[in-house]
Amino acid sequence: MPDRQQDGSPPPDAGVAEGLSLIARAEQDGERTFRMLGREWKLLSGVFSPVLSYGTVFYSRAVPFPAGGRFLEIGCGAGVTAVQAALAGCEDVLAVDINPRAVANARLNAARHGATAVRTRVADVFAGLRGEGVFDGVFWNIPYVSLAADYVHTSPLSRAVFDIEHQGSRAYLSGVRDFLAHGGSAHVGLGNIGDLRALENIAAEYGWAVRLVATGAAEPDLHVEHRLYRLVDHDAHP
Ligand SMILES: C[S@@+](CC[C@H](N)C(=O)[O-])C[C@H]1O[C@@H](n2cnc3c(N)ncnc32)[C@H](O)[C@@H]1O
Repeated sequence: MPDRQQDGSPPPDAGVAEGLSLIARAEQDGERTFRMLGREWKLLSGVFSPVLSYGTVFYSRAVPFPAGGRFLEIGCGAGVTAVQAALAGCEDVLAVDINPRAVANARLNAARHGATAVRTRVADVFAGLRGEGVFDGVFWNIPYVSLAADYVHTSPLSRAVFDIEHQGSRAYLSGVRDFLAHGGSAHVGLGNIGDLRALENIAAEYGWAVRLVATGAAEPDLHVEHRLYRLVDHDAHP
């Protein structure tokens, strides 16, 4: 990992190096089981590996799950956070991902842990979800690293770490309001290797400010700080 910049943040290309390394290690790993948060989980090949990033554990602990309410997770990957939400008492958990293998993986893990509240769907962010109504909590651990428009995704794993031209974050920030129940909360996870300035600017376009609510760093990627942001109405931001 290259040295840090004066303000403590990693240099701009550190995210690309981190993303490529994550993809390569996940491809080598393939299908496996792993222990996390006191449970054993299945990981299918081609799905974002919670084993290679502390982010999954961090967000599964830090996101405020609406017990008794409805929770929507975009980009569920292997389904750890969605299952934890169900086991924490959410009445209905909709776990969606653009990667059909991730959706199958989340379904497997929900069945494995008796998380009957978890439903799964293949979706590109919110596309096609209008009929699902509104949720008390919405969350996405988004692909951290922004790349320019000329980058072409080479695999589903690439989609899990790279966000081309901020398309994913824009779709989330522009659409999330329509899926929030009155009094509900929307969160987004982004690491310090991501482009916070871009996230803030896009959020502002859709009337949001991003408020940092928790940070965490631990092995296996201690050099990355994972950050949970809550979306608040721009006018309500101090
Ligand atoms: C950083 S991974 C997080 C996975 C999982 N939530 C976790 O924490 O282990 C991002 C996830 O978003 C999914 N994703 C990427 N682009 C998407 C899109 N446009 N719509 C829905 N899901 C997307 C990826 O397939 C990947 O599973």
